[in-house]
Amino acid sequence: MKLEIAPGTKPILGHLSEFRKDPLAFIQKYRAEYGTIVRLKLLRRNVYLVSDPELIHEVLVVQAKNFKKSRALQLARDLLGDGLLTSEGELHLKQRRMMAPAFHRKKIFDYARMMGEDARKFRLSLKENTLIDLHTAMMELTLSIVARTLFDADVTGDAKNVGDALHAALSMFQRVTNPFAQILRRLPTPGTLRFRAARKQLFAIIDRIIEEHRGKDHGDLLSMLLDARDEEDQSSMSHEQIRHEALTLFLAGHETTANALTWAFYLLAKNPAASDRLQKEVQQQTKHLALDEPIPPELAQNFPYCRNVFAEAMRLYPPAWIIGREALNDFTLGKYSIAAKSVIVMSQFVVHRDKQWFDDPLTFKPERWEGENDRPRFAYFPFGGGPRTCIGDQFAWMEGTLLLAEISRQFRFVPLGDAIPQPQITLRPRGGMMARVVRTER
Ligand code: HEM
Repeated sequence: MKLEIAPGTKPILGHLSEFRKDPLAFIQKYRAEYGTIVRLKLLRRNVYLVSDPELIHEVLVVQAKNFKKSRALQLARDLLGDGLLTSEGELHLKQRRMMAPAFHRKKIFDYARMMGEDARKFRLSLKENTLIDLHTAMMELTLSIVARTLFDADVTGDAKNVGDALHAALSMFQRVTNPFAQILRRLPTPGTLRFRAARKQLFAIIDRIIEEHRGKDHGDLLSMLLDARDEEDQSSMSHEQIRHEALTLFLAGHETTANALTWAFYLLAKNPAASDRLQKEVQQQTKHLALDEPIPPELAQNFPYCRNVFAEAMRLYPPAWIIGREALNDFTLGKYSIAAKSVIVMSQFVVHRDKQWFDDPLTFKPERWEGENDRPRFAYFPFGGGPRTCIGDQFAWMEGTLLLAEISRQFRFVPLGDAIPQPQITLRPRGGMMARVVRTER
């Protein structure tokens, strides 16, 4: 059976102009009005918005081989080359195999020590009753953590440069829905020039880190990449490939977690009962530690409420708010037949707010994550799923939980006004999040 295109299309653009005006409102509206599988037209492309967990499972897991990543990530290739996030097929499998050991449970435990130390340093640098941009602060903190854990590098001084450069580079992604994106990227427009300058700056920082690693085993991910040899021809990874992987991890490994943490602190500020409960847990579990001592990794499992706060923040404000796949061949999804080259989009933002899976879905309730639940696997998928699932998910759970606990030992944040989610590549608060630093310590 073929699905008809949903109403609301305009000549040439299809649904594009309405989508671009307010993507979050758009996808929520079409889900609400036309159901869990909606056919849209974005320019000439058939796009299906799929919001049923069973069908998402079909696309991401069961029929994963019939899909490649969609165009948004093709544009990301300009920045990331063929790194883990953007590569396909054999290359992706090989790189994923090579990088997996850096994300094993035992490694995460080692990283937890560094995460705790960096978070402690940040906590001790905060001053009561001052204003900070919480989002920028979280970006700097998570960037320094990913640099230290995976590359044994100190980018504290560079953090702002890396942040600015990434931001400039990311603004390129606004062009994802621009019909002329492929042409624009070759023209020296101000946007393209800014992007190229930012890319150059990022490459310079990464190249410096790579150079510092050559000839000496730092026991980190970068040393593993430099050491890795192809099973068959014993060739090593090219400088470009290593740079792509490093940049991918810098990008994928810090902004997402920073957003989740920013939203978590925001939601805690709006929900005093949850904030009190988190405080109780944190004070109880850390009362034997001196204030200048970080939470050690052995204690990381003792903060279930902090973990639930992090989970609930990612439910309401999923850092990856949408995932896209392009079909390689014709296929069937539920009762519909769908043509090759169609794009399937699945939005965490939409599914995580579906009242069928979450009662009182707009309310922040960390308690809903206590005990077992019988939701389908893909009612909640902040880290995606299937062969392209996030390689850093355990890293992120550890980091999110530990940073919430470590910072909350002394401080909480009171944001000035309401934050508006801005759906770029990740879901960040529009214009940052200015907040007052308030002491919590008893
Ligand atoms: C709260 C934090 C994070 C969220 C919400 C998140 C989300 C995601 C999602 C949804 C995907 C799949 C995208 C798709 O299927 O199209 C993904 C992939 C990926 N993530 Fe994460 N991520 C987070 C943290 C991290 C961290 C900490 C790292 C590394 C240190 C990381 C590295 C990656 C990489 C390399 C991929 C590509 C994996 C592949 O295709 O094999 N992420 N992430």
